[in-house]
Amino acid sequence: MMNPQSCTPSEPYRGLIHRYGFRLDIEGKESPITLHEGNTPLIETPRLADRIVPGGRLFVKYEGLNPTGSFKDRGMTTAMTQAVHEGAKAVICASTGNTAASAAAYAARAGITCAVLIPNGNVALGKLAGALAYGAKVIAIDGSFDDGLRIVRELEGVSGLAVVNSVNPARLQGQKTAAWEVCDQLGDFPDWLCLPVGNAGNISAYWMGFQECQAGKCGGLDCQACGRVRAPERGLPRLLGAQAAGAAPLVLGHPVAKPETKATAIRIGNPARGDQALRAIAESNGHLCAVTDEEIFQAYGKVAKAEGVFCEPSSAAGIAGLRQAVKEGKIDPKGKTFVCVLTGHGMKDPDSVLSSGAQIHKAAADMASVLKEIER
Ligand code: F0G
Repeated sequence: MMNPQSCTPSEPYRGLIHRYGFRLDIEGKESPITLHEGNTPLIETPRLADRIVPGGRLFVKYEGLNPTGSFKDRGMTTAMTQAVHEGAKAVICASTGNTAASAAAYAARAGITCAVLIPNGNVALGKLAGALAYGAKVIAIDGSFDDGLRIVRELEGVSGLAVVNSVNPARLQGQKTAAWEVCDQLGDFPDWLCLPVGNAGNISAYWMGFQECQAGKCGGLDCQACGRVRAPERGLPRLLGAQAAGAAPLVLGHPVAKPETKATAIRIGNPARGDQALRAIAESNGHLCAVTDEEIFQAYGKVAKAEGVFCEPSSAAGIAGLRQAVKEGKIDPKGKTFVCVLTGHGMKDPDSVLSSGAQIHKAAADMASVLKEIER
């Protein structure tokens, strides 16, 4: 039996509930449903920093390295653990893809049924493949993510069926641990944390995590169980939330009936946790912005080519938003530390690489032809 109180650094890592369970407000921690999610690297990206935050330091939190390739696994271990504890026989979610793949994997792990509603034709291939591979019932609806979430919420309360979208508070309990890891890895709060905003669960969870960190209630900087006690020196970070310009309801101040963006993960017109996200941004004295698909894809290409970190297009929205804010003089980067959250892995969406101008060179099968192609 796992000990939810345990976080001794010398113990093998066994996922978020094992690591942080004593600080997570969920039921069922004695029997975690886990794929050893979390504990993702925080990578300094100096070449990217030179380009977008001159005089500052830039780190990326590479959430694509979670077991199913996105940050969703953090919230899914907690949501699934609680759902199973409460007797769920099946889980359901609406999704732009990543939540679907994550729910499907954790349901497989728990041995229960998973149904996912996805917007027909607007889910990246790697996400769809994941959900299918893990054995979920994938239902493509003629509608948007928002339509899917409306249907899922209508199903709330059906006996034995648990909703695992981020409207479920257990999701945020897991997701807030990313904020604790950032503090722990950096040894302090960053000045700014930048991330994409879709249904607005993640930004809300980060804010909760940072606030708990400051109050000494997290498992990171002030971890009583493992004896590490360090107080953050900087004040709470400021949050930069970036929405895609064609799907920017929080920036516009009203829902968007037909959201459009090639960054399909954040193609959302009516975020469930929109009000909470706006509060978090206001309380942190942060910044909310809309970035065009062109800005998103530019950042997406740059982080891979300049730093060797491959994320999916939506994940680069935080970098694009930071770049825009610095260019517009809204943020002075000098002496500041920035963390951009890269929410999903680039391999989730192979089509986006191929459609964004990448080229395959051709050569005859001999050395001279290959060398000529290399020198070209
Ligand atoms: N980045 C990626 C890669 C995502 O998949 C999502 C959300 C977000 C950012 C935005 O996070 O919704 O918490 O504001 N994807 C959800 C899904 C909607 O169904 O996979 P958020």
